[in-house]
Amino acid sequence: MSPSTATRRSSPIPEDFPVAIAAAKADLRARIGDYAGVFAAVEADMRAKVASIVAEREAGQPIWPVVQAQDIVDGTVPAATVAAIRKRGCAVVKQTFTRGRAEKWDAELVDYVEENHFDEKYQYLDDGVFGGLAAARPSIFPIYWSKPQMEAREDPTMAATRRFLNGFWKNESMGRVWFDPDRDTAYPDRVRRRAPGTTSSGLSAHTDSGSVERWLLPAYQQVFRHVFDGRFAEYDPWDGAFRTEVDEYASTVMCSAFRTFQGWTALSDMHPEDGVLHVIPIPEAMAYLLLRALQDDVDDTDLCGAANGESLPIDGRYHSVLLPALSPIPSVEPGDTVWWHGDMIHSVGPVTDQQGWGNVMYIPASPDCPKNADYARRCGEAFVAGVSPSDFAPEDYEVGWLGRPTVAELSDLGREQLGLG
Ligand SMILES: [Fe+2]
Repeated sequence: MSPSTATRRSSPIPEDFPVAIAAAKADLRARIGDYAGVFAAVEADMRAKVASIVAEREAGQPIWPVVQAQDIVDGTVPAATVAAIRKRGCAVVKQTFTRGRAEKWDAELVDYVEENHFDEKYQYLDDGVFGGLAAARPSIFPIYWSKPQMEAREDPTMAATRRFLNGFWKNESMGRVWFDPDRDTAYPDRVRRRAPGTTSSGLSAHTDSGSVERWLLPAYQQVFRHVFDGRFAEYDPWDGAFRTEVDEYASTVMCSAFRTFQGWTALSDMHPEDGVLHVIPIPEAMAYLLLRALQDDVDDTDLCGAANGESLPIDGRYHSVLLPALSPIPSVEPGDTVWWHGDMIHSVGPVTDQQGWGNVMYIPASPDCPKNADYARRCGEAFVAGVSPSDFAPEDYEVGWLGRPTVAELSDLGREQLGLG
């Protein structure tokens, strides 16, 4: 067990999920009133948004907004790009790091795992993260504390990028400050290395940061209060209110941090046909998912297949209206970073005989707030010990590894992000 597992913040798990789900659904339906009518209006809105995304994509127009990292640093991101990110909920940030630096990191990661004989020690662990989703065995390395990862997390341009992205969210409302968009906390995650020649069925569409929680938890019911009050027009997916008060049920998929954007840093060239990340670039689509599960054709104890301890699945049976909008990232090069709103539906496309490597370091944006600072502090302890962060399986490979940075090797910002200041 990782040192701090026992102190993870999580919500008490219902004794009987079917009973809890049926009760929550009855409450929410009563609260909305005309839940079928509200859903019909939201569905019409989704159909229009999906149609315009499909039309733009088929016309060869870019779906993912692309922003230059230097423009973020200089404060000169064009207003049209800002508007596009708000609308689409996703972005590629070009050259957050130089190609040369990212390629060096890619090589250093290989050296780090080889020098420490990772291959001989590695045991595949099915932690259930991909349970319920159609998944190929992922090429995820449970490595958290390599020098490249630490350097990328504390890099000033990365910090500026995260501040820029946090800034899309409303952090103050209802007389409260929910988080500080200008300060980072670390959310240490793993690396992916997918070799040339890989054939993979990818990973089907889903959302993270809670599944059944989005209907059952009081804090999530507050986050989605406009949806559950039947006032979809007032629902703002960028409103941070109550987001930092969500404590998911303890499971192998729980995320202990509020992430404004999920994200990763590219360490290799990747192209749209190479089995890359896709998103449904509609941040409001979460409202559709929530309301869909309350309709009469879904069993009273069912939330369109959502299960505790698994990602929230997006299903052709229930959500076919949304699926045509799934759009791949554009081509990216080493040093680019890729970001998507924490509610957004995403998938990994299938690939046959992948050309080149598909290598990334997962690094999201998690702004400072008590919830994130608390988790980051526990990650700081895990870093010092070399064990896995408590959101992940306690595989603890890096204990005693050569080349793992020390606290003294971090920058002031790097230490602050892990509560080691
Ligand atoms: Fe995911």
